[in-house]
Amino acid sequence: MSDQPLGIFDSGVGGLTVTREIVKVLPGENIIYFGDTLHRPYGSKSLKNIRYYTEYIARYLLEERGCKALIIACNIASIAGQKTVENKYSRPIMGPVEAGVREAMKMTRNNRVGVVATSGTAESGVYQKLMSSMNGQVQVFAKGAPCFVSFVENGVFTGKAVQAAAEKYLGSFKGTEIDTLILGCTHFPYLQEVIQKVVGPDINLIFPGLTMALDLKATLSQKGLLRESTKAGDREFLVSDLKSLFPGFIKYGEKFLGMGSLFFKEESIY
Ligand code: DGL
Repeated sequence: MSDQPLGIFDSGVGGLTVTREIVKVLPGENIIYFGDTLHRPYGSKSLKNIRYYTEYIARYLLEERGCKALIIACNIASIAGQKTVENKYSRPIMGPVEAGVREAMKMTRNNRVGVVATSGTAESGVYQKLMSSMNGQVQVFAKGAPCFVSFVENGVFTGKAVQAAAEKYLGSFKGTEIDTLILGCTHFPYLQEVIQKVVGPDINLIFPGLTMALDLKATLSQKGLLRESTKAGDREFLVSDLKSLFPGFIKYGEKFLGMGSLFFKEESIY
């Protein structure tokens, strides 16, 4: 079983930011990455729709491809469908929300935490609920940043348009006195440089990718599922629609991620 791949999925290319951390922490693992480019963006869709896609992708990765664990990198997919998938499969299933919240709770000094995410995640109230349940003193401010995802999918990570959008969305945190900001969308680390510039150097940016990778290592080890190999594992990158994968992303994304060449194939799972 330890040679079986890890299944990682996202609405598009955002989950590659989580994959990068997993590759660093668990270089010997075989990985199948699936980006649901046919249905992205998820952030503006109903949770019911996203749950349906999540179940479909989980079935493909866990049943058809025999993945030993499933990493729902996408925040909104984990909010919409992680529980349903966990109820169906006994293999490890992991999402980003709990890891991000844990990190933020460790970092904040003044108990004022921001979350910037897709509109769906911000409006779901899930980050707010989880943080309040862990610490009654904490104040959470969640904002949606809808067009960040399309910048990233197009390979636009910096520049005037990103800067203007960041000023518009992140400007609404002014006056909240947050000292910690969770990037509650897998796409947003690509824009980290601009986001940090706009919010200023005193705000800690939290992206849960590394915490997820470390949690995953601990879980695999505990269940005897770690692949201890000195050779790098095989990596397969799949999307549900190749035409919706933009060349701009491949050009700049490969450089940004530094995981070698991203050769995507289309897989019709629907
Ligand atoms: N990357 C996804 C997330 O973490 C959502 C992006 C989208 O809207 O498709 O929530």
